[in-house]
Amino acid sequence: MSAFASSAPRLISTDDGSRAAAIAAAVEALGAGRLVALPTETVYGLGADATDGTAVAGIYAAKGRPSINPLISHVPDLAAAETHGRFDADARRLAQAFWPGPLTLVVPKQPGSPISDLATAGLDSVGLRVPANAVTRAVLAGLGRPVAAPSANRSGRISPTTAADVVAELGAKVAVVVDDGPCPVGVESTIVACLGDDVRLLRPGGVSRAEIEAVLGRPLDASPSGHDADASDEVLLAPGMMTSHYAPEAAVRLDAREVRAGEALLAFGPEPIAGQDQAVAVETLSATGDLTEAAANLFGALRRLDSSGAAAIAVMPIPAEGLGEAIRDRLARAAAPRG
Ligand code: TXA
Ligand code: MG
Repeated sequence: MSAFASSAPRLISTDDGSRAAAIAAAVEALGAGRLVALPTETVYGLGADATDGTAVAGIYAAKGRPSINPLISHVPDLAAAETHGRFDADARRLAQAFWPGPLTLVVPKQPGSPISDLATAGLDSVGLRVPANAVTRAVLAGLGRPVAAPSANRSGRISPTTAADVVAELGAKVAVVVDDGPCPVGVESTIVACLGDDVRLLRPGGVSRAEIEAVLGRPLDASPSGHDADASDEVLLAPGMMTSHYAPEAAVRLDAREVRAGEALLAFGPEPIAGQDQAVAVETLSATGDLTEAAANLFGALRRLDSSGAAAIAVMPIPAEGLGEAIRDRLARAAAPRG
């Protein structure tokens, strides 16, 4: 048992006068090799000093995550990112357009980068991201080292979008939780690989495919990743994209046109559907059909419906455009066969 073990994480608020103290406490804990849950615009991350292999091992242990699955390293700006990864013209253009923001770039790892092999799962590429949350960027600048951070949930479960979700998921496995309120984007970053001639979408997320293609000035190259990929391609390109993920306790039924007996409802848009009055519980992603609002509400709504005790969650159809591609990806994984 570690000397740091305690029954509950230290929860630090960023309210009012406490912001500087919160940043200092997070920097100190990370510098001491401890795990710190950090707010980002997408979801809360479970952070550790990416250059400290022992600290990174703690992330895999806390999440129960297979260590073949590489982690994203978070840095305060593009200049810091370029010390760890090699950016070609496309990667630099994307970074300049979307950082800080919900985009992760997978690029060749710089040979001299101190990011631990455990964080990159031994690959010769590295996933880098500059998150938009101001507190977390100050922590990254203060630490002066990259922070490896997957979503702060147990492996395979729903990603946390509030500090309370983090505590519910990980409890005392995390030393410090920095509470900066709910995450405004609500789905994880879009992951784009720039590893040669192709620019590929490895995971849809908070920046839409159309926004990325507008900056590139051409369509993304066909990607074997995503929900239409076969498993061997996923292992090759984005080892983390395991088919079952984001899984609530309840079964998930997609593109539902009616609510069946015993089901809870995840609603979208203004039109009610048959059986809605009989639903065990109802959560609405967006009453107006706004996909940005729906993304921000997705994981919290899934968590609340799951705690209703319903055996299954019926999900109304969600269009695939804009952030809808990321929402549909997460829901497809939540609905995938477990085990
Ligand atoms: O929004 C986000 O990206 C959040 C916040 C905390 O930043 N993080 C996040 O991390 O979603 P995680 O670990 O849940 O997902 C990271 C994904 C995994 O699917 C992993 O396989 C992929 O990034 N990844 C990381 N490095 C990679 C690499 N070198 N090559 C291919 N895929 C990589
Ligand atoms: Mg995750």
